[in-house]
Formats: sequence, C-alpha cells, structure tokens
Amino acid sequence: MIDTSAFKPVSFSETTITELMIPSYSNFGGKIHGGILLSLMDKVAYVCAAKHAGNYCVTASIDTVDFLQPVEVGELVSLMASVNYVGNTSLVVGIRVISENVKTNVIKHTNTSYFTMVAKDDDNKPAQIPGLILENGNQVRRFIEAKRRKEIKQNYKKEVDHITVPDGIADCKELLIGERVILTKN
Ligand SMILES: CC(C)(COP(=O)(O)OP(=O)(O)OC[C@H]1O[C@@H](n2cnc3c(N)ncnc32)[C@H](O)[C@@H]1OP(=O)(O)O)[C@@H](O)C(=O)NCCC(=O)NCCS
Repeated sequence: MIDTSAFKPVSFSETTITELMIPSYSNFGGKIHGGILLSLMDKVAYVCAAKHAGNYCVTASIDTVDFLQPVEVGELVSLMASVNYVGNTSLVVGIRVISENVKTNVIKHTNTSYFTMVAKDDDNKPAQIPGLILENGNQVRRFIEAKRRKEIKQNYKKEVDHITVPDGIADCKELLIGERVILTKN
C-alpha cells in the first residue's frame, strides 16, 4: 500500500508571480534585461518547489532559457510555475512566462523554462520530497515530458563530459576548416 499522505497534488504548489516592468529593469537597448526575468524565474521556482517540498530548496540546474520575444518597459510580466516532475530529493518546476501590454491587453509568450530544484534538510543535505498526485492529462503529459528530458540530459552530459580535442595545434587544423577564425600560430 502506498502511503498517500506523503504525496501532494500539483495544484498545492502552483504559483504565479506578477510584476510591472519599470524603467530601471531595462538594458541599453531599452528592453527588459534578461537577468531580471531570470531572477523572477528563480524566485517563482523557489516558492513552487519549497511549497511542494515543505523544505528549503536550491536551484540545481536550469534547462533552456530561450527568450522568444523582448519584454518592454511598462509591460506586466506573469510567471506561472508548477511542479512537473518529482524524483527522490529533486523536482522539476516548469515555468511559463507571459508579458501583457496593459494598454492594449495584448499578451505574448516570452519563454518557458524548466528549473531542477533540490530540497535540503536542516543539515544542508538533500532531503526526500513528497510524491506527486497527477490530476489531469496536462499534468501527466508534463510529467512524462520532464522524465524524457531528464534522460536526454543524462545522455547529453555523458557525451559532453567526453569531448576530446587533439593535442597540438597542427592536429586541430582540420577541425577549424570552414570556421570564421584566423590561426596565427603553427
Ligand atoms: C545541487 C546539489 C544539491 C546536489 O547535491 P549532491 O550532494 O550532488 O546531491 P546528489 O548527487 O545526492 O543529488 C541530489 C539530487 O539532485 C539531483 N541533481 C544533482 N545535480 C543536478 C544537476 N546538475 N541537474 C539536475 N539535477 C541534479 C540528483 O539527480 C538528485 O536527484 P534525485 O534525488 O531526485 O534523484 C548541490 O550540488 C548543491 O547544493 N549545489 C548548489 C546549489 C545552489 O546553491 N544553487 C543556487 C545557485 S547560486
């Protein structure tokens, strides 16, 4: 028998943060600085993860932050976060970021990202987190997608960890053919 008291529904920790984009958040190009959005994403991921875990959580990794469209000063940014996947001591928070022009009410999707958060106990050791109760088709789809992304990431990491570069410039020359570089040393 599964102890269901150690499980929480996705809805328990669903979190939204909304913030007005003020001029001091802008970059030299007049658009909102990517770092501002990353900071907000980290905050909403923390709240969502800590609520589910019932513990302090740290950000272990972030998957793909592609800014699809710029965010303008004066827009209202909303970050919607929910637990997509749980492991043993880690969980994945999916975050959808939208930005609204408050004058026209036009809403654009600026990005979707996935934060892996790890729960920590009072001794700063990874702590077990509650299991997840999936209540609809979207939650099931997100869970399976996150599981698949985790597997792909593990395989990718294995490949990246074994990237080798030939010793010596002479042996690297062939690999630089077609690249936009000038080699000044033989
Ligand atoms: C992330 C961290 C907790 C992992 O600690 P660890 O002792 O290596 O823990 P473990 O190897 O036992 O892994 C614990 C869990 O984290 C997951 N994990 C560890 N590193 C990870 C990574 N880079 N990406 C995704 N998940 C990761 C593991 O898969 C494991 O999950 P599971 O229990 O659900 O299977 C630790 O490296 C840490 O505290 N890092 C600093 C985090 C931080 O300060 N973030 C803020 C940025 S300034």
